[in-house]
Amino acid sequence: MNFNLSQNGYFGQYGGRFVPEILIPAVDELNRVFQEIRHDQDFYRQYYSLLMDFSGRPTPLTYAAGLTEYFGGGRIYIKREDLNHSGAHKINNVLGQGLVMKRLGKTRVIAETGAGQHGVATAIMAAKMGYKATIYMGAEDAERQYANVFWMKQLGAEVVPVTTGTATLKDAINEALRDWAGNFDNTHYVLGTACGPRPFPEMVTFFQSVISKEMKRQIHDLHGKNPDRIYACLGGGSNAMGAFAEFLEDDGVELIAVEAGGKGQASGKHASRIAYGTASVGICQGYKTLFLQDEDGQMLDTWSISAGLDYVGVSPILAHLAETKRVRVLAATDDQVIDAFKLVVSKEGLIPALESTHAFAGLFREVQNTASDDIIVVNMSGRGDKDIFNIGEALRDEGWKSFVQERGRRYAE
Ligand SMILES: Cc1ncc(COP(=O)(O)O)c(C=O)c1O
Repeated sequence: MNFNLSQNGYFGQYGGRFVPEILIPAVDELNRVFQEIRHDQDFYRQYYSLLMDFSGRPTPLTYAAGLTEYFGGGRIYIKREDLNHSGAHKINNVLGQGLVMKRLGKTRVIAETGAGQHGVATAIMAAKMGYKATIYMGAEDAERQYANVFWMKQLGAEVVPVTTGTATLKDAINEALRDWAGNFDNTHYVLGTACGPRPFPEMVTFFQSVISKEMKRQIHDLHGKNPDRIYACLGGGSNAMGAFAEFLEDDGVELIAVEAGGKGQASGKHASRIAYGTASVGICQGYKTLFLQDEDGQMLDTWSISAGLDYVGVSPILAHLAETKRVRVLAATDDQVIDAFKLVVSKEGLIPALESTHAFAGLFREVQNTASDDIIVVNMSGRGDKDIFNIGEALRDEGWKSFVQERGRRYAE
């Protein structure tokens, strides 16, 4: 694909580089290295062999026979990002930025994390490549996703719970930016999604586009043509951009991103910026995009059953693609996600992350509008093991409840 997605870091009216003066040298230096590597075949070969040897790429494209038969619409395929080392797509970006760090000569890495997947991926990269790691995580998220906190610590990373604001992802990003401003001489900030100041949105997309590169080859091997539709969940936007990138210029491919509708639009407890039309243009955290904010520009509280989609901003690339109608954006509520989860587990024997289940929920809502010769791909961005506590709670599973109570009681003794 053409990797000049932006005009100097802008995607239509969105994007840019709005950082404090002190961070300008850091983002400029990063942009210089990104411009070097984006067309460098040797770098790409080194990157892809690392993904193959260490993370298990290429990930398969699995035919979802059970779901296809159940709905009787188009043929459904699932891109299996859950099979990456660490269980999600986040590692694609992190390993790429780990190689960028070598070029930058940096020895310490910092990251923010929501669901914890990006934090674990960063801690893995740091352990593998010999860097020191500090991970910022909203205290609320750290509680919801303690299993990931546990692994980050075992991997040798320092985990800093952030208690400011709503103690979620946006607050963790603020803390990470503060740390970077004070330490960029030896520290690289591995942003985990396609947001933030230039060059992050485009650089993260560059690394994640490995998903759609493989997907295109795989679907062409099977059917000799492009898919008709691709569904991906939409938090900050990295797995969606990864799944869409190679198809942006292929007009026949419908691209659908699914946001966290939480408890529904009327409740105000959601993280849908585009589908519900509730976000407005703002500048925050180093870039211009659609943010969920009040009239004074204060960021609003967000809600989702999945920590990884619970973010106030959205990739400037996706804000632009939605505005120009290249990408259609839906929102799936927590209840729809739980129903979709049950279907995927029972019909396919797969355990998707709650984030990824939004993509399935989006498809299931409109699958009746597809024809039997349509080819549909769902990007399953991660696996659901990390969500066992939330899912156990949402399914009101009595066995799980007494197991957790018993383990808690034994641990306290
Ligand atoms: C499995 C999974 N999917 C999706 C996301 C959302 O991030 P993005 O929109 O950048 O893909 C996360 C975030 O942590 C995640 O863990």
